[in-house]
Amino acid sequence: MEPKEHWNAVYSARSPEQLGWYQAHPEISLRLIAESGVAKDAAIIDVGGGASLLVDKLVAGGYTEVTVLDVSAAALAAAQARLGSRAQTVTWLEADATRFAPSRHYALWHDRAVFHFLTEPADRQAYLRAVEQALLPGAQLIIATFAPDGPEKCSGLPVVRYGPQELANEVGENFELLESCGETHTTPGGVKQSFSYCRFRRR
Ligand SMILES: C[S@@+](CC[C@H](N)C(=O)[O-])C[C@H]1O[C@@H](n2cnc3c(N)ncnc32)[C@H](O)[C@@H]1O
Repeated sequence: MEPKEHWNAVYSARSPEQLGWYQAHPEISLRLIAESGVAKDAAIIDVGGGASLLVDKLVAGGYTEVTVLDVSAAALAAAQARLGSRAQTVTWLEADATRFAPSRHYALWHDRAVFHFLTEPADRQAYLRAVEQALLPGAQLIIATFAPDGPEKCSGLPVVRYGPQELANEVGENFELLESCGETHTTPGGVKQSFSYCRFRRR
């Protein structure tokens, strides 16, 4: 099944609050974005943002140039419905991150729980090509994946688990690792999942 079909089926079957990755408050993402120091009017993209509340918090926090990209139109529709009129201040892109051809540069690229689905080296290379097209030197990259002691699957799909050094090796020498941290996420069903978060700067 193509990612688009899989993810549209997932978001059509359940409400966002019932999905394993749901966070009422994306605390670590928000902290890392604040620590990146990007200006409130700088362009930020949340790749695979789905129906995450990160966009709500960024808009409420005064960020004015937020883009959310996701392969699932159903996920984007859920986020837009929740935001109501505030959705008009956000750019929404329905696209596969591995085929994304950015039409502008971003000061910050954020990804929570998307890169880890790329189990094929060619897909990781394609994703990282898009990152390099999107980010000029100095721009920042935040990626959160399942940690080495995290689950082997998410949403029924296999994942690749990373620690900070493994992720740094994967994104390559063009990115300097600035900080990393772990998170124990509790799913709505009460299951604990171990995540790794890394913040990089494009050299
Ligand atoms: C586990 S969810 C995480 C959603 C969100 N980042 C969060 O933290 O709540 C993975 C998301 O990535 C999206 N996705 C999966 N593969 C993708 C791809 N190749 N390109 C773009 N989005 C993708 C899915 O539709 C889904 O919204």
